[in-house]
Amino acid sequence: MKQPNKTTWLNLPSLGLSIRMLFTGYLLAIGFGLVMAGAQILLTHGMADGKLGLSLDDIVYSYYGNRGNSKLESKLNGSMKDKAPEEIRAKLIHWARDGASKEAWEEEIKNDVSMYCSGCHGNIPGLAAITKYEVIKEIANTDQGASVDSLTRVSHIHLFGIGFIFFIMGFIFSFSVGVPKWLKEAAILLPFIFLILDIISWWLTKWYAGFAWFTMIGGIGYSLASSFMWITSMYQMWVMPYNGIDYKVNTWED
Ligand code: HEC
Repeated sequence: MKQPNKTTWLNLPSLGLSIRMLFTGYLLAIGFGLVMAGAQILLTHGMADGKLGLSLDDIVYSYYGNRGNSKLESKLNGSMKDKAPEEIRAKLIHWARDGASKEAWEEEIKNDVSMYCSGCHGNIPGLAAITKYEVIKEIANTDQGASVDSLTRVSHIHLFGIGFIFFIMGFIFSFSVGVPKWLKEAAILLPFIFLILDIISWWLTKWYAGFAWFTMIGGIGYSLASSFMWITSMYQMWVMPYNGIDYKVNTWED
């Protein structure tokens, strides 16, 4: 037989005022923080494609970069178009898009450039000496998106910082009453899953632009789950205690 339960006050509407003050103060600060984070995302990533509002292109530009934009590529599609056959041009463009590596340069690009371009470049004074790696590297430079350095830094800050926020938020929300069990469990677990998905997707997007979708899904996912926990917790602490019902449940028991 079940023991008579003495901890039936362990739910948000029944908690004492002081602990509700603590929870509320925290939620207010975090809520404000989330709004600021949203604004910051809109202002930095949101403007990456030059238009206001967060779109897939923004995410692609921020993490993958804008790799079709080197001077080498635009010249090869413009005034240098007739200087080399189609497949050589394509090869040079690919090389630039892939980051213009020294290895590929030594292996074959160098020969192509000396064959098709050195008649003028490197010979005629004043023309970019693209037969030298340092010179062509500069011209082949594309926007490679986020650097590994900055990604490692931002990744660990996000995982530690946001993980902690979700922990406390989930802790407060775990005292809510009347939320269906599956929904409560999902709302508590999902932000962590989405957070991890989000961070992994930055790295994947750095190399494959197609993964920008995952960043979008991760961000939307944890915003929804945490908004739901935030609103439910506030409502249960500040509306439900005053509607005359006595909630007798230990919300940690099931
Ligand atoms: C017949 C001479 C000639 C050949 C061959 C030639 N170029 Fe040029 N290149 C020029 C001239 C002239 C300019 C400057 C005018 C311009 O930018 O269109 C130039 C400019 C460029 C620029 C812009 C450099 C800068 O800093 O502004 C790039 C990049 C370039 N060429 C790439 C190439 C590549 C790659 C090849 C070989 C596939 C090539 N060129 C072959 C004559 C040549």
